[in-house]
Amino acid sequence: MHTFRKIGILTSGGDAPGMNAAIRAVTRAALSDGVEVMGIYRGYSGLIDGDIHPLGLRDVSNILNHGGTMLYSDRCPEFKTEEGMQKAIATCKKLGIDGIVAIGGDGTFRGATDLSRRGIPCIGIPGTIDNDITSTDETIGFDTAMNTVVEMVDRLRDTCESHARCNVVEVMGRNAGDITLQSAIATGATAAVIPECPFDKEQLFEKIRRSKALGKRNFIVIVCEGMGSDFAPELATEIEKATGVETKFARLAHVVRGGIPTLRDRVFATKAGEAAVDALFAGKSNLVVCTRNGKIVFTDIQYALTLDNLHKGKIKAEDIQGFSQEDVKEMQRISKMRMDELADLYLTLNRVSL
Ligand code: ADP
Ligand code: F6P
Repeated sequence: MHTFRKIGILTSGGDAPGMNAAIRAVTRAALSDGVEVMGIYRGYSGLIDGDIHPLGLRDVSNILNHGGTMLYSDRCPEFKTEEGMQKAIATCKKLGIDGIVAIGGDGTFRGATDLSRRGIPCIGIPGTIDNDITSTDETIGFDTAMNTVVEMVDRLRDTCESHARCNVVEVMGRNAGDITLQSAIATGATAAVIPECPFDKEQLFEKIRRSKALGKRNFIVIVCEGMGSDFAPELATEIEKATGVETKFARLAHVVRGGIPTLRDRVFATKAGEAAVDALFAGKSNLVVCTRNGKIVFTDIQYALTLDNLHKGKIKAEDIQGFSQEDVKEMQRISKMRMDELADLYLTLNRVSL
């Protein structure tokens, strides 16, 4: 089995609150096993150009309560090229980095699997507010992002109530409606519009007209950004026209990505960080740390990426080569389970909202 002397840790892609808790856990867990830890700054960009510095026990003190990532993040197109990849491998060899923990989303995992295949063992930790990694029940940052939306929408609702207005609020999540739907339920929104579920504008207009007739003064409609950037502002104009309720539009954008991580994100990030180190030191590679029903489990990165493609309807025939029929069936089951979870939440929202 590989004996590790020095590992690297990086955060890549969109940052997410809770990433710092994972950095702290990885660092402290590895150091407690006598293994050195190198902080790789600016994601794969830092790995390519050697922006790498040792992390000691105290370097990760007082970070777990901060949003963002102390290692900074980057989107690094060069890393997708063979030349960029070779530069990164050369950096690892030069500095004696013999394993990497990569925290990020599916793009980050694609990079990690490429590195693993070229002899640098990597373990991925899902860090993205979008919660769009199908193999895990949740990702680092998702819980904080939902709570931030709840806080922002509660504020909007206060002023909607005073002025008898509607507010259409667009939130991040890329093409995943998880943040939108859960925060819509938690804020008592009139409706949520997400790419995964059917939406009928006329029904919404009618619902607002009916609720207004019952005396309701505030209306909140939360829209996932995956509907397209014109969708939410246009919907605001249409609601006003169709219902006579003055309607404002707000795009929360990156507000949702910052801020103090919640307890749940900190705890998952800490458990995932520790598990990633244990897996690496046990000689494992090319795995994502996931949580399922409250338990930490590991999924092969290639499996996780293929499951994501299947779930997002982007699967190609060659993607499933190398997987057994049972594997593919299990992927279909997980994908259906995720869709059913969303569909159930959607029904709940529509049943209890006015
Ligand atoms: P996320 O990890 O949040 O999905 P990105 O999709 O931007 O964010 O990916 C983060 C980084 O991962 C990219 O900037 C790039 O450096 C690396 N990456 C993405 N896709 C690939 C790929 N196919 N091969 C190698 N590296 C990749
Ligand atoms: O993946 C996280 C995320 O915040 C998405 O919700 C959003 O679509 C995207 O990143 C925004 O990316 P950027 O920070 O590059 O504008």
